[in-house]
Amino acid sequence: MRSSYCEKIFPREIGRSLTLSLLTQQHARSLFELTDRNREFLKPWFPWVEFTVNVKDTGKFIDDQARLYRDKKAVQVVIKRANEIIGMIDFHEINLENEAGCIGYWLGEEFNGNGFMTSAVREMVSIGFSDLKLNRIEIQCATDNMKSRAIPERLGFIQEGVLRCSEKVNGRFLDHAVYGLLRNEAE
Ligand SMILES: CC(C)(COP(=O)(O)OP(=O)(O)OC[C@H]1O[C@@H](n2cnc3c(N)ncnc32)[C@H](O)[C@@H]1OP(=O)(O)O)[C@@H](O)C(=O)NCCC(=O)NCCS
Repeated sequence: MRSSYCEKIFPREIGRSLTLSLLTQQHARSLFELTDRNREFLKPWFPWVEFTVNVKDTGKFIDDQARLYRDKKAVQVVIKRANEIIGMIDFHEINLENEAGCIGYWLGEEFNGNGFMTSAVREMVSIGFSDLKLNRIEIQCATDNMKSRAIPERLGFIQEGVLRCSEKVNGRFLDHAVYGLLRNEAE
């Protein structure tokens, strides 16, 4: 993956006024505001929420992720609906030697329940196999995060196991269900 490679993939329109765009510093303020509005909604699932207290923290996250992007380890993407940021989706832990990567995602609460994230994940899976030439895509969801688990299940991922106490979030250990999809299993 050359660093210009993903710049040819994004921005990408995926229907219903949704666009996937590479995350840049110009998104810092609106991304922080979306995070801030959804603090209580996101906090049970992500340890970074309580450490994101101002727009500078979001700016630092964007810088850190730009380094991972240059090293071909991660690709952070904003989901826009009619030009408003409604959530995020990413590839992380990309391992080009093993042709494998993980997808993560979140959506503002007010945008839940419309299938927007399922569409975004479907598109990222297609990008992962076709453009990034991955052979394996993984999604990990807390076992009690049923709305998150429904997405890989809807898209034909196989549940491969459960990692016990995989992550500590807000003082609570989360078990992670591991879902995988291989290139030859994709729709
Ligand atoms: C996980 C999360 C992204 C799921 O959001 P979501 O809105 O349920 O997911 P989608 O956008 O794919 O929408 C699916 C819902 O829309 C409905 N829907 C409507 N039209 C649809 C369509 N065309 N296609 C698919 N689903 C559709 C589905 O029935 C489903 O609703 P239901 O749960 O009442 O059955 C969101 O709840 C979130 O960000 N949570 C907090 C952070 C988080 O948990 N991230 C994941 C960590 S692993």
